[in-house]
Amino acid sequence: MVELALPKNSRIRTGKTWPKPEGATNLRKFQIYRWNPDDGENPRVDTYWVDMDTCGPMVLDALIKIKNEIDPTLTFRRSCREGICGSCAMNIDGINTLACIYGMDEIKGDVKIYPLPHMPVIKDLIPDLTHFYAQHASIMPWLETKTQRPEKEWRQSIEDRSKLDGLYECVMCACCSTSCPSYWWNGDRYLGPAALLHAYRWIIDSRDEATGERLDELEDPFKLYRCHTIMNCAKTCPKGLNPAKAISEIKKLMVERQH
Ligand code: SF4
Ligand code: SF4
Ligand code: FES
Repeated sequence: MVELALPKNSRIRTGKTWPKPEGATNLRKFQIYRWNPDDGENPRVDTYWVDMDTCGPMVLDALIKIKNEIDPTLTFRRSCREGICGSCAMNIDGINTLACIYGMDEIKGDVKIYPLPHMPVIKDLIPDLTHFYAQHASIMPWLETKTQRPEKEWRQSIEDRSKLDGLYECVMCACCSTSCPSYWWNGDRYLGPAALLHAYRWIIDSRDEATGERLDELEDPFKLYRCHTIMNCAKTCPKGLNPAKAISEIKKLMVERQH
């Protein structure tokens, strides 16, 4: 059996416990992963206490409150605060999800927050998504056409348009890919559920004229076939999408075109 060991000195240490806000009676404990590449220290987990009587209901509300009122060095991404930009993805209470739409009432006990797993960390809760985005770009996430451009727009029937439902809503948060064991171990070559969901979104778009080339690109033992239908991706997607189903549809198309 392969034994996995952390390199020397790479343990996550217990960090600072920040003072409780004065006068608060409704406190909640937050344990948050911290790592600053510039201070030469190992990662640590800091403890914060948040006054829930003066905090919004979502985990992101608490993070913003901590940053504004307790520790301005706490670093995380966020933008829209309504589950649309995908930037506040992190691991909360063991689940990859979007902090802005994850209610604190869904968590029992202390709130534990880590960056998305198995990704290089830039700082604190911010993962490096460079490779993830490059994989997305590799599936050509745009309409490819060969016939002459129509005078107005590329038309699509209501029925064909409905085939994109459950796909176009993806916000590229990376919660699915970073919950996928196949992606953890082969993320350099396996495209992962997010990029493959997008690949399928363009493959089945009735207006797209590069279906054959798209399938050719995916006909590869690693890019597509590392998915073993473990379904973590569908379980964790904060938008309720099912990348595993999209992947199995691509596999079906691969088989069909051989006949
Ligand atoms: S179903 Fe496929 S893509 Fe989804 S978590 Fe499992 S192996 Fe990964
Ligand atoms: S499929 Fe869901 S979990 Fe995956 S990137 Fe898109 S929105 Fe995020
Ligand atoms: S801040 Fe945009 S999805 Fe959470």
